Amino acid sequence: MTLEKPQPRRLTILGSTGSIGVNTLDVVNQLGGREAFEIGALTGNGNIELLAEQARTIGAKLAVTADESQYMTLKDALAGSGVDVAAGRSGLEEAASLDADWVMAAIVGTAGLGPTLTAAARGADIALANKECLVSAGQLFVEAVKAGGGRLIPVDSEHSAIFQCLDNSQRPALERIILTASGGPFRTFTREQMAGVTAATARTHPNWSMGLKISVGSASMFNKALEMVEAKHLFDVAPEQIEVVVHPQSIVHSMVGYSDGSVIAQLGAPDMRTAIGYALTYPKRPALNVDRLDFTKLSRLDFEAPDETRFPALRLARTALTRGGLQAAVMNAAEETAFNAFVEERIGFLDMADIVEAVMERLIDCGAASTIAEVFAADAEARQVAGEIIAADEKTA
Ligand SMILES: NC(=O)c1ccc[n+]([C@@H]2O[C@H](COP(=O)([O-])OP(=O)(O)OC[C@H]3O[C@@H](n4cnc5c(N)ncnc54)[C@H](OP(=O)(O)O)[C@@H]3O)[C@@H](O)[C@H]2O)c1
Repeated sequence: MTLEKPQPRRLTILGSTGSIGVNTLDVVNQLGGREAFEIGALTGNGNIELLAEQARTIGAKLAVTADESQYMTLKDALAGSGVDVAAGRSGLEEAASLDADWVMAAIVGTAGLGPTLTAAARGADIALANKECLVSAGQLFVEAVKAGGGRLIPVDSEHSAIFQCLDNSQRPALERIILTASGGPFRTFTREQMAGVTAATARTHPNWSMGLKISVGSASMFNKALEMVEAKHLFDVAPEQIEVVVHPQSIVHSMVGYSDGSVIAQLGAPDMRTAIGYALTYPKRPALNVDRLDFTKLSRLDFEAPDETRFPALRLARTALTRGGLQAAVMNAAEETAFNAFVEERIGFLDMADIVEAVMERLIDCGAASTIAEVFAADAEARQVAGEIIAADEKTA
């Protein structure tokens, strides 16, 4: 089979040292590396050694650490390499502003929103792994990409699957999109069992190898909650058109249902490089060295309804979608704050959802945003309220 080689293009990877970033560089290398692509910027935060090694190996123009205190360490590590170095928020902005025509948005959390918007505004194609951009800024983010003139290509495996299955010429017949969820490591746990789990156990995903935040989010199903909001904005569907089904094998990555009863699914091994490769070469498909499914060895594919009592995150996402406006931004910021407190062992696993719900109720009148500044303000307020609730709970404990 001969597939067309990708055109030489200029790439930037925001979050190159993370799980998605490392997989993106692997795909880039599989498709020809520095012979086929020019690398503008690579960015990381704390993993300076890896960032420097990546930048040297791929010949990046610029390497950026988000952590200003690490500037000199990164500069020393790249001395004599010809790679420029920057740090902090302004460094991330510089990275996003470089003239790359394709930008992988793979910084974890709301920290990714600012630089991704900068890249979108100058018209880069955005390969979107960072789901918080859409969850927090919603339509404002979609409009920013449109206004810049670039394309928005989903990387989350579920949204990539839907993107691959959705035939826009059949749009009037689109009935529903069905997000699959593995159910995470606690799929069969009782609430009592879940109450005692630690971040170390919560991060051990049964099928996927991912960063800490998304792994814990898979265990609590907050990751799926964020994906429901992401799906609404990416595919312009009503909340009631979004379904979630638990599929423990993570083989069916998501599905699209039409008015004639047909359901189109995308399947593959649980390996993010397929979705990343698709985003990199879209609308073509790359030739990738990833595992192929052997259907004769797949003994079964199971599907079950999610349990919203044990996993209240899904219910909270529906509430946020129904309320609209800034409620999803509030949910996201509260969840990030609660996640940090859980990892620091200040709160328990089940407390995360309780805190998010309490913040959403407290900020029920947060309204809608007409500017990104209003999104950041709602985000900051939700973090503050979540922090106060956590501190108050610690006092009474
Ligand atoms: N992993 C997956 O399979 C997967 C699948 C779908 C979607 N996603 C989404 O993709 C995003 C990245 O996920 P991941 O699993 O790759 O995360 P990760 O492994 O934790 O990597 C996060 C990246 O962001 C950097 N970073 C951390 N804090 C930062 C900050 N304050 N400012 C700027 N950069 C910062 C990290 O740098 P250092 O490592 O140098 O500290 C790293 O490069 C998330 O939004 C996640 O939900 C991930």
